[in-house]
Amino acid sequence: MCGIVGYTGKSSAAEFLLNGLEKLEYRGYDSAGIAVLHDKSFEISKTIERIETLFAQTSNGNNIKGSLGIGHTRWATHGAPSLENSHPHLSNDRKFAVVHNGIIENYSVLKQELIDDGFQFTSETDTEVIPMLLQKYYKGDIKAAVTATLKKLEGSFALGIICADSPETLIAAKRFSPLILGIGENCNLVASDVTALVSHTKNVIYLEDGETAFLTPASVEIYDSEGAMANKRISVIDWDISSAQKSGYDHFMMKEIMEQPDCVKKTLESYNKNGEITLGNIKLTEQKLKKINKIEIVACGSAYHAGAVGKYVLEELLRIPVNVELASEFRYRNPIIDSNTLTVVISQSGETADSLAALKEAKKMGSHILAVVNVVGSSIAKAADDVLYTRAGPEIAVATTKGYSTQLIVLYLLGIWAANILGTANKEQLKALNDELPLIPQKISKILSQKSLIQDIAQDFANAKSIFFIGRNIDYAVSLEASLKLKEISYIHSEAYAAGELKHGTISLIEDGTPVVALCGCKRLHDKTLSNIKEVGARGARVLACVADRDFNFKDDKIKTLNFPATNPLLIASLEVIPFQLLAYYVALQNGCDIDKPRNLAKSVTVE
Ligand code: G6P
Repeated sequence: MCGIVGYTGKSSAAEFLLNGLEKLEYRGYDSAGIAVLHDKSFEISKTIERIETLFAQTSNGNNIKGSLGIGHTRWATHGAPSLENSHPHLSNDRKFAVVHNGIIENYSVLKQELIDDGFQFTSETDTEVIPMLLQKYYKGDIKAAVTATLKKLEGSFALGIICADSPETLIAAKRFSPLILGIGENCNLVASDVTALVSHTKNVIYLEDGETAFLTPASVEIYDSEGAMANKRISVIDWDISSAQKSGYDHFMMKEIMEQPDCVKKTLESYNKNGEITLGNIKLTEQKLKKINKIEIVACGSAYHAGAVGKYVLEELLRIPVNVELASEFRYRNPIIDSNTLTVVISQSGETADSLAALKEAKKMGSHILAVVNVVGSSIAKAADDVLYTRAGPEIAVATTKGYSTQLIVLYLLGIWAANILGTANKEQLKALNDELPLIPQKISKILSQKSLIQDIAQDFANAKSIFFIGRNIDYAVSLEASLKLKEISYIHSEAYAAGELKHGTISLIEDGTPVVALCGCKRLHDKTLSNIKEVGARGARVLACVADRDFNFKDDKIKTLNFPATNPLLIASLEVIPFQLLAYYVALQNGCDIDKPRNLAKSVTVE
């Protein structure tokens, strides 16, 4: 979704802004722009194409002089993608330039008031009221104008503001949308996402809601919502630049798929000390855990699919009912939750608006909140009682792969850890899981080493109109993710169905030649899934069955098989999903799709 960058320093602002926006491209956007202050006026460049157009329009930034500037990638909400609607927006007197993430909920009232005052608007955005308000309240004191403007705004925002009267001051303000300050040498920076900062600095300050920062190349002043000076800690990011670069791969998605053995290993190792699972200084004490009688897992997209796997694993190990629900549904359902409910919020970005709102809802009702998050210091991580970080590093491709894989690992570890305390699983079962977990990275590597096999299979799928994924139990949960991966990047319609449910509707869509992928990792349900395979086969489906090594012999030439290494039945999702990430990638590649930035999708969805 929308992204913000800002620069105040001694070098070219445009260079940082353009490179920063390029790093934010992965979030999804449909227009972009920069404003740089030069000789007391703003030089602006905007595009409704890709950032590379901004590079071209400005001769890689060389045509835009000045060392104070702001930039933005816009994902349209209020008004279509157009040059008029793209940011930065200017005040009528062209003294203020503003970039904004979030939604100003009372903008139509403010806009009417400003029109009545004689202001003229050129865009359909909610954002444009902000520079006009700044102009209205500016009487020579920028801080006073910013404070008065922010007081008028309702809704969520992260703002970058510059003023033509103040050639060194970069202003940042945050309410509910993420914003981070980068503390550099001879420069200070602002970004909505650390990936735009890592190539310049690893020293960052996470702004809190209500805070406003005034930056110059040599100083950083931060004020809280009451206007008092805030004392903030500098955090050091442990992500390096290479993690935000393609490192020789054609796409971030393939790079991230290939990183999975390493990320899974890192995640495992951060919670496994000498064979013992430890979740650090977790506030979910033994005493609290013993009172938990229900677990709610809430998340969106692939994180929800990881939760779907988590339901099977946690119920099996803990014998506690687990409900997994989409955050957007959960938040408006009036769920039955109390202090004996554990709510697990899963989010790679830690910024997904619906997941954050669901978290707050559950917290209000007294539930203990445990977040499984990848981005350190993100809003969900901060709002939770406990955070278990995944160690995926920055994930750039919109379609998540390593984010999902590391979420699974944390859910397994949570299950084993809690089952040990509660005594709900037998010792042998827990030992078997503990012994198998460290083998998962090398088994993933084994699948990845045979990726050319999947590239061949992808040829059979590239022209399909519709593809069905079926499975039971954990296989069904993985089907959901396999289907989503394929449709989000290849734009081929696909559906995941619980194999046993097929005959209650979807089977009517099966025609001669329809591809059906049957996930058969759950050994104890093989015979059941096989019956469903026969049902679709009899109606002309082309079946590809995914099975663990040595497990299944179809004795049927018409059924193609795809093997993955055998593992513990509760851990199959970690291996079974890998071929389908690759399949989605190769089908999209074959069909010439924009793999890292699929149309209409955003990496981090910060609006509901
Ligand atoms: C977007 C992304 C998905 C992601 C979902 C949830 O839709 O495209 O890949 O799974 O958001 O994101 P989160 O950051 O909360 O895991």
